[in-house]
Amino acid sequence: MSMTTRRGLFLTFEGLDGCGKTTQMRMLAERLRAAGDTVIETAEPGGTDIGGAIRRILLDPANHHLSPTAEMLLYFAARAQNVDEIVTPATARGEIVLCDRWTDSTWAYQGYGRALGVDVIRTLDRIACRGRQPDLTLWIDVDLETSLGRAKSRNVQEDSADTRMDDQSRAFYERVLQGYQALEAEEPGRVVRVDGRGDLETVAGRVWQVFHDYRELHV
Ligand code: TMP
Repeated sequence: MSMTTRRGLFLTFEGLDGCGKTTQMRMLAERLRAAGDTVIETAEPGGTDIGGAIRRILLDPANHHLSPTAEMLLYFAARAQNVDEIVTPATARGEIVLCDRWTDSTWAYQGYGRALGVDVIRTLDRIACRGRQPDLTLWIDVDLETSLGRAKSRNVQEDSADTRMDDQSRAFYERVLQGYQALEAEEPGRVVRVDGRGDLETVAGRVWQVFHDYRELHV
C-alpha cells in the first residue's frame, strides 16, 4: 500500500545558512519516495518561476540598497506564489510537500535579524499564506561558527560569489539564531529542533525519527 496520505503533508526545513537543511531535505525526499510516497520538493525564495525571479532580486549583491521592508515583502510575494502554485494543489492531491525554508525564515531573518519585529511577520503571513501553515517544521540547529564556516566554504567550492544575505554581520546571524530559538519556544508542537552536528547520515537518522514520530501520531 502506498503510504501517501489522503490529506497530504506540508513539511518545512529551517536553519541558519550552511546548517545542512537542503541536503537533509533531499535525503528525506529520497527515503520517502523509496517507501512509495509522492513527494514534491520546493524552496523559498524560489520553487516557482516567479519565485526564482524574485530570488534573483533578493540575493543579487548589486541590490545592497534594497530596503528591509521591501525585502520582507518580496520574500512573502514569492511565498504567496508558492502557496497557490505548489503547496495547496499538491497537498490537496494527498502528496507530501517538502519546502526548504518558509515564513519561519522571515521570522528569524527579517523579524529578528533585521529587527522588524514578529507582529508584522504574523500579519503578512496571514495575507500571503492565508492560513497555510506547515504541519511540521524541522529546525536543523548548528552553532554560529559551523554555519558561517560552511556557508563561506560552500561559496569558495562552488566558485559562487557571496550573496547579498551572506554580506550580513555576525551580530545579524546571532539575532537570526535567537529568532529560531524563540520560535521553537513559541510553537513547540510544530517546530522541532534537530541537532545538526555530526555526519550526514547521523543527522538524517534524527530527521527520520522526528518525521516518523510525527506520522505515527498524526496521520
Ligand atoms: P537559502 O540559501 O537557504 O536558499 O536562502 C537564501 C537566503 O535568503 C538565506 O540567507 C536566508 C535568506 N532568507 C531570508 O532572509 N528570509 C526569508 O524569508 C527566506 C525564505 C530566506
